[in-house]
Amino acid sequence: MQRGKSGNFLFRNGRVIDPLQGMDALADVLIWEGRVAEIRPRLEISRERLAELQEMDMTGKWIVPGLIDMHVHLREPGEEYKETIASGTRAAVAGGYVAVACMPNTRPVNDSATVTRFILERAEREGACHVLPVGAISKGLQGESLSEIGELRAAGAVAVTDDGRPIMDSLLMRRALEYARIFDLPVISHAEDSRLSHGGLMNEGTVSTMLGLRGIPSAAEEVMIARDLILAELAQCRLHIAHVSTAGSVRLIRQARERGVPVTAETAPHYFTLTDEALMGFDPVFKVNPPLRTEDDVQAIKRGLRDGTLDAIATDHAPHSVLEKDTEFEFAANGMIGLESALPLILDLVRADILTPSEAIAKVSCNPARILGVPLGTLQTREPVNLTVIDPDKTYILDAGQFESKSRNCPFHGRHMQGQALMTLVKGSIAYSRITP
Ligand code: DOR
Repeated sequence: MQRGKSGNFLFRNGRVIDPLQGMDALADVLIWEGRVAEIRPRLEISRERLAELQEMDMTGKWIVPGLIDMHVHLREPGEEYKETIASGTRAAVAGGYVAVACMPNTRPVNDSATVTRFILERAEREGACHVLPVGAISKGLQGESLSEIGELRAAGAVAVTDDGRPIMDSLLMRRALEYARIFDLPVISHAEDSRLSHGGLMNEGTVSTMLGLRGIPSAAEEVMIARDLILAELAQCRLHIAHVSTAGSVRLIRQARERGVPVTAETAPHYFTLTDEALMGFDPVFKVNPPLRTEDDVQAIKRGLRDGTLDAIATDHAPHSVLEKDTEFEFAANGMIGLESALPLILDLVRADILTPSEAIAKVSCNPARILGVPLGTLQTREPVNLTVIDPDKTYILDAGQFESKSRNCPFHGRHMQGQALMTLVKGSIAYSRITP
């Protein structure tokens, strides 16, 4: 990771929100040599010490544990024209993230210790934030034989998944859960029955009928979630459901959790912000898998976030070049970028009284940290701090042309937004700042 000098900072009068500590209070935060030294309502600092630090008035700002995005496609190795570890992590810190978990559907696939180590080494040299590699469940994402899960774990993988593709073979999924359990890794399920999705291009329903586009029924997602919940119960392995998009999925996960199945789940901002009606203009920027669903689904996702069925909000940042996206709807690639647009959309949930500020922050800090088993997601640490300062009131029109990401496939370009990351500290030094000195 590229590192500046660990800093000495005094943040005055910010709203410090650390869900893991149950903290939500106005306070001063002293960071000394990159580490949180003190958090108190009013800190008295000697004149000599003040001379050695940067003092900043954070009135009206939130000071929170650095945000974690547990579902990102960094595209390196292999598709560096879409994104690299360097550009993707720059986009992350600009969006307020201090850590990203990167999916294994690279070229080559991250199904070996060699690729995992490559990603970690590149991240160490060129990354602007922490990178948490996720290994493949199956070799080459072919869904046929298991990758060496133990080796992936030893090399630094934090989870396994075949994200982008479902594991259609139930026996292989069972074995993956059993092996992952031995290594205490969560298995992340890309829940899709590809027989049911059957080459569909968007959600199956009224809008797909009107547009004459082949639909993907909600059942394609729900059938697989039901299967994976049953298998997780059998294997007693931690199962994490990626990019939940339907009301039925939320219901299945809620019921399983009540039964004690060790399941966690995430959704993405587009699933609680947009519906399939966005596709009326046939703009491929709205094409994503799983697809945008209906207003009923959006409401169910919000309820799932509110009652805790959905533990995390991840972006599923999926960069694609103009070549793959700006083409006929049928042939356009699935996916949208999200690292630099997620935060204001998450804050919309707070403004709509769906989540408290602390609940919203938990979904992008301590909850993903707990699921991935990484020591991040809180300000209470002796290590150099990872921290985000948020300006919740900042209003602006989102301009994807200004993004750090290499790709521009952002469905929220031109949208009025409220809330922005003001400063991102990674390992105790400034990785991104919008504060002009
Ligand atoms: O829309 C998507 N894009 N969904 C996925 O599951 C994969 C992703 C990608 O890699 O582009």
